Amino acid sequence: MKAVIIPQFGGPEVLTVAERPEPSAGPGEVRVRVHAATVNPTDLSLRSGRRTPDYPPPYIPGMELAGVVDQVGPGVQTLRVGDEVMAIVVPMRPQGGAQAELVVVPEASAVPIPRGRSLVEAATLPMNGLTARRALDLLALAPGSTLAVTGAAGAVGGYVIQLAKVAGLKVVADAAPADESLVRELGADWVVPRGSQVATEIRRVIPQGVDGLVDAAVLGAKVLGAVRDGGAVAAVRQWEGGTERGIVIHHVMVTEYAQNRAALEELRQLAEQGRLTPRVAQTFPPEAAQEAHRRLAAGGVRGRLVIVFS
Ligand SMILES: NC(=O)c1ccc[n+]([C@@H]2O[C@H](COP(=O)([O-])OP(=O)(O)OC[C@H]3O[C@@H](n4cnc5c(N)ncnc54)[C@H](OP(=O)(O)O)[C@@H]3O)[C@@H](O)[C@H]2O)c1
Repeated sequence: MKAVIIPQFGGPEVLTVAERPEPSAGPGEVRVRVHAATVNPTDLSLRSGRRTPDYPPPYIPGMELAGVVDQVGPGVQTLRVGDEVMAIVVPMRPQGGAQAELVVVPEASAVPIPRGRSLVEAATLPMNGLTARRALDLLALAPGSTLAVTGAAGAVGGYVIQLAKVAGLKVVADAAPADESLVRELGADWVVPRGSQVATEIRRVIPQGVDGLVDAAVLGAKVLGAVRDGGAVAAVRQWEGGTERGIVIHHVMVTEYAQNRAALEELRQLAEQGRLTPRVAQTFPPEAAQEAHRRLAAGGVRGRLVIVFS
């Protein structure tokens, strides 16, 4: 089978496509014939070696996919051969990640795709949707609480806004002028200018400070000023700097939800109801993975870049 490979740490130019042995579904696992697998910021970190110097290549990147179940291991209860599914994949394992023609995942990491959505759209939901879910679960805000979101136009930020509205939160989100209408459409109650002054801008809208904040733009300690005394921040990358005024910093690790099937199922249902919106920017054949990495690294992508296996 064909797979995108990181043969060594480096720039986008190291990415290649190669043949790999076909994996088989073990107990409690399904094998998916992949149609679509997304390219995420984490793939860039994996490729550069910035994130996992202890896990040497070669390996297959990719943390989410959609495709058709083509093999079911012993004990699988809920999925059958022929089901169209979406799944989160943890790539730091011997068989690698999602960007391959055949990928084995635990049953708990896969659910049917939302009715009315394509496989390409569905592929954009599991990893970033579960990240948003995990961030909000860590903050555990009661309905009516205030939440701020940085990086709101991005994949994680967008899903955070939509899930927060489902949870009855009041959301203030940052945006560049060009993204303001997008962020409003996603459900933000207030939109403030993005940038280094974002904490001051959020305080202008919520003078007492927000109850919680999801820092999807990875601004770090600069956001603390937006949060009320004793509030909380969900950090999606390593937190640089300390904290102040009793603000709790939660570290989001989506891998902790990689087998949270109930959360994945909720994402499917919300997408079916139109309350969670998968966004696709562009598709690429696996042979153009280098181009996808360059495009993502350049910034400004709205919606996900998706590798499509024919
Ligand atoms: N911990 C976990 O388990 C986990 C899981 C998933 C994702 N993540 C991390 O979460 C972060 C967001 O991921 P994503 O997929 O949502 O990325 P994304 O789609 O690229 O979104 C990031 C957003 O932040 C914006 N941004 C960048 N710099 C900014 C700044 N200084 N001020 C305001 N906005 C800024 C980007 O705008 P431009 O495009 O204009 O730069 C973009 O809209 C990444 O760092 C990713 O690695 C962590």
